[in-house]
Amino acid sequence: MTIKKAAAPRSPVTPRLVEPTAWRHVDLEVNGSTVSTEVESRLLLSDFLRERLALTGTHVGCEQGACGACTVLLDGRAVRSCLTLAAACTGREVRTIEGLAEDSLHPVQQAFHDHHGLQCGFCTPGFVMSITELHEREEPVSEDELMDQLCGNICRCTGYRGIERAARQSVRVATEGGADDE
Ligand code: FES
Ligand code: FES
Repeated sequence: MTIKKAAAPRSPVTPRLVEPTAWRHVDLEVNGSTVSTEVESRLLLSDFLRERLALTGTHVGCEQGACGACTVLLDGRAVRSCLTLAAACTGREVRTIEGLAEDSLHPVQQAFHDHHGLQCGFCTPGFVMSITELHEREEPVSEDELMDQLCGNICRCTGYRGIERAARQSVRVATEGGADDE
């Protein structure tokens, strides 16, 4: 009869320490209102806007910086809110599509309306915010800058003609001689 050796005692497993999620306090301005709250340090600005502030006009498509649907203005510059941490926005000013129209459509929104620059509308808030950055510039923009800005947003519906016309109505484009088209 074979006598089995007793199994060697297993070495004790060191418990893995799971750190609690870090939180940060943020104070920022969103569409002219002060927001002061705690956020998880890894919370994306797109999720903060949509889920914490119910500003669902900022759309989320690719979630990796490729489609531009989530574009908002951060201190006047167009940024991808899916690549921006909410905690990094403390002390800064965020504008979303909800912050544009007052008593009537914002001029960029009006231009999209005038030129039929949308179909399903999923990409539209991102395009409008990107173009608004240029619309608010004091200097006229070059043709290349306008095209570069439009390249950052993807539309699956329109074929881009109406969007381009809307952008040209919204932005002062410098001509080669230095004048500008409005
Ligand atoms: S959802 Fe942010 S770039 Fe596509
Ligand atoms: S209008 Fe549908 S994705 Fe652009």
